Amino acid sequence: MSKSSSRLWWQTGIIYQIYPRSFQDSNGDGVGDLAGIIQRLDYLSDTLGVDAIWLSPFYPSPMADFGYDVADYCDVDPLFGDLATFDRLVADAHRRNIAVIIDLVPNHTSDQHPWFIESRSSRNNPKRNWYVWKDVRPDGSVPNNWLSVFGGPAWEWDEKTQQYYLHSFLKEQPDLNWRNPQVKAAMFDAVRFWLERGVDGFRLDVAHFIMKDPQLRDNPPNPDPAKTQFKPMGDYDTQLHLYDKGRPDVHLVLREFRAVLNSYEAVRPRYSVGEIHIFDWKEWASYYGKNLDELHMPFNFALLRAPWQAKALRGVVNGLEAALPPGAWPNYVLGNHDEPRLASRYSREQARVAAVLLLTLRGTPTLYQGDELGMVNGEIPFDQQQDPFGIRVPGLGRDVCRTPMQWSDSPNAGFAPPHVKKCWLPVTSDYHEVNVERELADPTSFLNLYRKLLAYRRATPALHLGSYRPVDNVSQDRYVYVRQSENQRVLVALNLSERDQLLNLSDYGAGKIQVSTHMDRQGACDLKHLVLRSSEGIVMELE
Ligand code: NOJ
Repeated sequence: MSKSSSRLWWQTGIIYQIYPRSFQDSNGDGVGDLAGIIQRLDYLSDTLGVDAIWLSPFYPSPMADFGYDVADYCDVDPLFGDLATFDRLVADAHRRNIAVIIDLVPNHTSDQHPWFIESRSSRNNPKRNWYVWKDVRPDGSVPNNWLSVFGGPAWEWDEKTQQYYLHSFLKEQPDLNWRNPQVKAAMFDAVRFWLERGVDGFRLDVAHFIMKDPQLRDNPPNPDPAKTQFKPMGDYDTQLHLYDKGRPDVHLVLREFRAVLNSYEAVRPRYSVGEIHIFDWKEWASYYGKNLDELHMPFNFALLRAPWQAKALRGVVNGLEAALPPGAWPNYVLGNHDEPRLASRYSREQARVAAVLLLTLRGTPTLYQGDELGMVNGEIPFDQQQDPFGIRVPGLGRDVCRTPMQWSDSPNAGFAPPHVKKCWLPVTSDYHEVNVERELADPTSFLNLYRKLLAYRRATPALHLGSYRPVDNVSQDRYVYVRQSENQRVLVALNLSERDQLLNLSDYGAGKIQVSTHMDRQGACDLKHLVLRSSEGIVMELE
């Protein structure tokens, strides 16, 4: 077997993110569940053809942050099902060759987790030190200036025990103290629990947050808020987050976590991806580990923050390619449950170009549910807002990308049984046109474009294994690159503008178009006079 063909499933495959609350409601309570996901596995394997699913949290939770506030790491919330249903999901997915990746939330628990209930019960409780507790400062102020990502100070006063506890997110999400070996041991036990049940990997929520500065020093002010952040985050941007996350010793913990995963490799290769919002390439790449012994990948969110222009996109890809440690595998993300919808960030036409980009770059694409339909941001009336982030910091709400999956034009878009009066978030009004059933019947739909791209990527070693080389390095409106494996070269040309683009690519000989975003041309094409129409992306095999 050649080196390239020995790549693993998480390298050659495509990962599809499921937000369980919004994928399929099987029991008519207006909230998606695990049995619903099982019902839709054929869609994932046969209609789309993805290789892995990543499930956002389904653990028991008071749902203050919709499952990212975990009250038990080793069970399923009754809202979503039970462990037996989870086991069935894993078995059914595996039967279809779909790997199952689950979300792990190591930085914080719910304030209803028994660990925290014990911890806050008294200063002498054996679990007191499982969380970050601190006295008020002599002047009566909070222990330091750290801020919650979701707005306001990161400290909450506990009246009973007269100390503050740290919460990097909601006050209902107290931060664990990873400097306590008992916390690490308990979390690794949970990891083993799921590995034993057959999960193929983990997505680690805010993986870089877990170690804090041991002295809990104040963060310095941020002299240039616009420059260093991912997206505008309100007051959170007023500081440089030097001490509350991204501490160097997080790498020690990630190495230990990786060793736990590796101990299960004999059965089959496992996988880990970290949610790491770091945009300094060198620092970002450090999460692969010096000897590739930490995360299999830190999520690469750089495309999400890049302006939709060729120069910026090329810059992201070049930056990543240059930063990757030898042997490390790249990855790209264009949407998830925290970001506005792809088809709303760009035009619908450019969202199709984005699909070509995501599915033809070198490395693993992670695709967010509904993006393959061209779903747009939901319209959420003020009184139906659910996301605590949006309620606390208006404008930053994430409900818009969490609306129910649109399966058909029947009531509730086929997400919930027709008799259901109210889904947890309203179904987006375009569901009569934008839905799986209808798009399957339309040869030029978003869904059929994605299906074609997915099938072609899967069948084409140049795309799922090959190298990457940019071709046209100057234009702002078009982005052209070649992917190459041992015996195959594929050229990708993206028109990021609404104007036609005339390209002379005669150096590349002749080619055959395999996919066009417009879904109306295929076959031989003259590379000397290649015309890309408005918002057209093409993928062509070179001779
Ligand atoms: C990142 C998750 O993606 C987000 O949805 C969640 O609110 C925070 N982490 C806190 O867990």
